Amino acid sequence: MDLRVIKQRFDIIGDNPGLNRALEVAVQVAGTDLSVLITGESGVGKEVIPQIIHLYSPRKHGQYIAVNCGAIPEGTIDSELFGHEKGSFTGAYETRKGYFEVADGGTLFLDELAELPLPTQARLLRVLQSGEFIKVGSSKVQKTNVRVVAATNKNLLSAIEHGKFREDLYYRLNTVPITVPPLRERREDIHLLFKKFVLDFSDKYKMPPIRLTPDAQHLLASYRWPGNIRQLKSIVEHISVIEHNRIIEADILRKYIPADTPNQLPVRTEGHTTDYMTDRDIIFKVLYQLRQEIDELKRELAQKGVAPAKQAEIPENSVVDYDFESNTEEEANASSNYSIQEVNAELIKRALEKHKGNRKLAAAELGISERTLYRKIKELK
Ligand SMILES: Nc1ncnc2c1ncn2[C@@H]1O[C@H](COP(=O)(O)OP(=O)(O)OP(=O)(O)O)[C@@H](O)[C@H]1O
Ligand SMILES: [Mg+2]
Repeated sequence: MDLRVIKQRFDIIGDNPGLNRALEVAVQVAGTDLSVLITGESGVGKEVIPQIIHLYSPRKHGQYIAVNCGAIPEGTIDSELFGHEKGSFTGAYETRKGYFEVADGGTLFLDELAELPLPTQARLLRVLQSGEFIKVGSSKVQKTNVRVVAATNKNLLSAIEHGKFREDLYYRLNTVPITVPPLRERREDIHLLFKKFVLDFSDKYKMPPIRLTPDAQHLLASYRWPGNIRQLKSIVEHISVIEHNRIIEADILRKYIPADTPNQLPVRTEGHTTDYMTDRDIIFKVLYQLRQEIDELKRELAQKGVAPAKQAEIPENSVVDYDFESNTEEEANASSNYSIQEVNAELIKRALEKHKGNRKLAAAELGISERTLYRKIKELK
């Protein structure tokens, strides 16, 4: 199997042996019905693997359904996965098929697997072992033929120790383990990925590509990248939009990566690692929108013949200074905590309104995961 074809088809950059191994295993097991468990830190690129497995399998003409287990409230997850009978709980006006029924003959990707509540884990184990399940509120046993691929950035062994994950389910799912290596173990790929994202964003925002000085290149390669490829991508996007000078020095780059002596910080494998830089990401979106509005204002002013000197009064840089030029993370937080909350709440509200309450679309617009959105809604009430 030529991995180059797969990388091209799925837009995967990199040639690290660990990454290549993960892709090879994915293609090798695609033809079987074995369950696959994908592990790896947040942001390493796990989500493409189940798609490869599905599209290289005989099930490729069947349904592919991806479920983010962390984004579904605990009370409805059984009904989402296994369906429910009419009248089985308040609000169950109709009988509804669950994903295991809909994906019959296809592939179900259970993302953020560790977030599954224990009772749901028991139902999942049963369907994996026997292909049998029962709708919520029903007593009729149904059959389904679904291939399950699961992913998590959590340490499941420690979840088992803490009684949060069933050991039997772990062994049942882990028939084929695939591990996607963290970016800091793929040093040779960092620059390739950087170059790809630079071109993507220069294209997207119609701005010249940014370039790094040798010092900045060194910093990029030696940084620990706790948020992995997602973090690298988001930093390239921020710099591409914000920095007027397209030659990026190490000092400028340093402003975008949180203080971290290389190889010093422990890696977080527990907790909400997916939220890495979320606040910054959201603020960045506001800055970007503001900049667009300012540009529009400038154009309108120019059309009305207002003298260009007026433009200097538009507080463009003061907005940027406010959040990005603080010397330390604490300083930035101390001075702007309250408004970060406000800004987040307002943006989330706007995105939800725009998409008529559809969380998936709102999360996509905000550039955050559905789970993060769900949690933020709870946090911000
Ligand atoms: N090899 C790669 N080449 C290009 N882009 C990549 C690669 N790997 C990951 N990405 C990009 O990095 C981002 C994060 O990847 P992904 O969403 O798959 O992370 P993940 O492993 O599922 O993380 P999490 O555990 O937080 O959900 C995505 O935008 C993805 O397109
Ligand atoms: Mg993911």
